[in-house]
Amino acid sequence: MQAKSLTVSASLKGLSGRTRVPGDKSISHRSLMLAALAHGRTHVYGLLEGEDVLRTADAMRALGATITQKDDVWVIDGRGVGELQEPSDVLDMGNSGTAARLLSGILSTHSIYTVMTGDASLRSRPMRRVMDPLSGNGAQFWAREGGRLPLSIRGTAEAKPLEYRLPIASAQVKSAILLAGLNAHGVTVVEEPIATRDHTENMFRHFGVSVDVSELEGNGRRIALKGPARLTARDVIVPGDPSSSAFPLVAALLIPGSDVLIENVGLNPLRTGLFTSLKEMGADLTIENERIEGGEPVGDLHVRASQLKGVDVPPERAPSMIDEYPILAVACAFAQGQSRLRGLEELRVKESDRLAATVALLEANGASTTVEGDDLIIHGFQTPLGGGEVKTHMDHRLAMSAIVMGLAAQKPVSVDDTAFIETSFPGFVDLMNGLGAGIQG
Ligand code: S3P
Repeated sequence: MQAKSLTVSASLKGLSGRTRVPGDKSISHRSLMLAALAHGRTHVYGLLEGEDVLRTADAMRALGATITQKDDVWVIDGRGVGELQEPSDVLDMGNSGTAARLLSGILSTHSIYTVMTGDASLRSRPMRRVMDPLSGNGAQFWAREGGRLPLSIRGTAEAKPLEYRLPIASAQVKSAILLAGLNAHGVTVVEEPIATRDHTENMFRHFGVSVDVSELEGNGRRIALKGPARLTARDVIVPGDPSSSAFPLVAALLIPGSDVLIENVGLNPLRTGLFTSLKEMGADLTIENERIEGGEPVGDLHVRASQLKGVDVPPERAPSMIDEYPILAVACAFAQGQSRLRGLEELRVKESDRLAATVALLEANGASTTVEGDDLIIHGFQTPLGGGEVKTHMDHRLAMSAIVMGLAAQKPVSVDDTAFIETSFPGFVDLMNGLGAGIQG
């Protein structure tokens, strides 16, 4: 990807109007994977056409599914569980950890040989978290030092069902094991100490696979499914991505005079920790027109500029807002008083070391921070903010957070590379300018 630098100055007026953000990334990846494993034809409406999801589409094609696109409807003819074919080349998952981890689960229970790689960011991310548990089903994995991509997988058609308790709260690891379980012989069980996003479980049911979910003590869950399973093609409607809505939402909170409606945003309760945290900070944020669409709760977010105050975000909320910490940290920099964001260890292994990069983003722009163990403390609005140069480390969410910082700060913010925004939010700058942000370049 060609680097694209940008300097962002304060928005001259408040943001206003109605908008829609692109489709949910998690649901988009899963819709292509499950449709490829289903019998029959699936139509997907509202798929996120970002780089990450396009890599998943290419991979599922290379594995034998037929995937076409007509206007904004994606049409997938599936092959059935166990029926994926060996690709003739390496699968390139680009920047996407979700694509690489979930696909590892699927490939582990197909008797084919595959090699997966990705860009420099993805090649630095840990894969042992899926390789180790999945090896228990009889599949073989080879990776670089430290469990890094490129990764080779020799899957097995005679897979043993796994029983696994997640050592970390990760929907990607949970999903990899459940996807492997579709073609294992017997009952696959995953226990998670804290509930993480449950799109895989919901979408399994949508495609006709029964999943047994029970609550564990302390907000944990036990998920069981019996393999081999048969998936039947079902159309999917993808809601707007709550993680993408976070950027125009926080921009509208911070830019005086703003009044914005973001329509059709997914409101799965395991994704909405940011909204809870912002409300605790005093955000004027209301949810309107709540409804169920395509099996997921959705609604419109109505947000008006607000004077925010500091917040203490508990660690158990992290899985429900894991991708939202950089933009929440920007909001905290503008808030009155101190904020403490607790339990951020997983941020260190995202598209970048997001904890370090978020600290650098804030400090470069005049905010004062402290890291204590896995907690990030932000000392709130003390000096005029902005004037810094932000390094985004191939991380889309850092790039969008830095742009929002620039729109709300007193001094311009330079961003070294905004090209990676394409992975999750194509058209981000145009959308923000449509609301009146006035981003140049
Ligand atoms: C995702 C899960 C999260 C999140 C990622 C998408 C998913 O990762 O950060 O952007 O679709 O399952 P972890 O579950 O590894 O925290």
